[in-house]
Amino acid sequence: MKMETVVCDGVAHLTPYLPGKPIETLQRELGLTEIIKLASNENPLGASPLAQKALTTALTELHRYPDGSGFLLRQALADKFNLQAGQITLGNGSNDVLDLIARTFLTSGCNAVFSEQAFAIYPIVTQAVGAQARVAKAYPADHAMPYGHDLDALLAQVNEKTRLIFIANPNNPTGTWFERLALLDFLQAVPEQVVVVLDEAYTEYVEDANFPDGLALLAQFPNLIVSRTFSKIYGLAGLRCGYAASSAEIADYLNRIRQPFNVNSLALAAATAALGDDDFVQRSAEHNRLGLKQLRDGVRALALSGLPSVANFITVDLNQAAQPVFAALLKKGVIVRPVANYGLPNHLRISVGLPEENRRCLTALAEVLA
Ligand SMILES: Cc1ncc(COP(=O)(O)O)c(C=O)c1O
Repeated sequence: MKMETVVCDGVAHLTPYLPGKPIETLQRELGLTEIIKLASNENPLGASPLAQKALTTALTELHRYPDGSGFLLRQALADKFNLQAGQITLGNGSNDVLDLIARTFLTSGCNAVFSEQAFAIYPIVTQAVGAQARVAKAYPADHAMPYGHDLDALLAQVNEKTRLIFIANPNNPTGTWFERLALLDFLQAVPEQVVVVLDEAYTEYVEDANFPDGLALLAQFPNLIVSRTFSKIYGLAGLRCGYAASSAEIADYLNRIRQPFNVNSLALAAATAALGDDDFVQRSAEHNRLGLKQLRDGVRALALSGLPSVANFITVDLNQAAQPVFAALLKKGVIVRPVANYGLPNHLRISVGLPEENRRCLTALAEVLA
């Protein structure tokens, strides 16, 4: 029997998510020791010290199941953002939350709308449940937000079978964003039976006063779900913890299919502590602002240009195929991220690292391009 004949259609033709290359893999492959990884938009400052301290205590309780309701973390999120705990759904990373949303709202015969060059998980979770993807054109390369979300184009893709729209602000892999008024106009125009998933994985990095806060819009738009993560500014990517905030009604549905212990006890303890570490978040945002400038200036000095970004990475147009440059950088112990799978074969995405890591990456890039 051919397994392909019995595997769900969507799964049979799925291309899996391509993660950034782990440091250990490159070590194994090339025997290098001095490796830097600027490939997965992680926090170069590490994890919040308060989170690290909370982990030490949580280690003594490893033999117990986690609190399946995530009571303390949900309450802490609710208190911080002026929500009810019943509006929060916890996930094993925000990818888990995006998957829960797709499984809650999509089946075959209906569709999800998202943009070209939008985060790679949206097509995967859509296809995995057998739903159709309706992909809106992104802004063109010569737009002020090159490859960014065109909210009008997204709206134009909505039809009577649309259940979800995924948008990311800022978006990965572009770093582009949309402002508050544009988002408000968009949300007002979306039919009320279509659920909008606003992915705010990088929101804590953004310092622009016109940048929207999705959580503040939940009361006004019952069809809005905001997803966020502890993987980026809180520095807890390895622990896997994210969350969705929505109406209590939507959260109730999401929680029906959530695995009872999807967030482990270490992640719960660390995320709860990290949420209260405003000092670390502030330091991380400041560090990122300087790092982005360092990378942007460095790229400009190489006569290249980076896409506008308010996230913790910059996506650079090399004006040539990026794959060989990526491979040559690997040989120099520098891991960045090719984004050909996003339809950007000439671009590389570089995460903000420590100042010396950014410098080393820029030097290696200059040598490879020379
Ligand atoms: C836009 C966006 N959303 C969601 C995620 C998922 O992150 P996590 O599952 O670690 O929370 C990422 C990770 O890179 C991302 O870039």
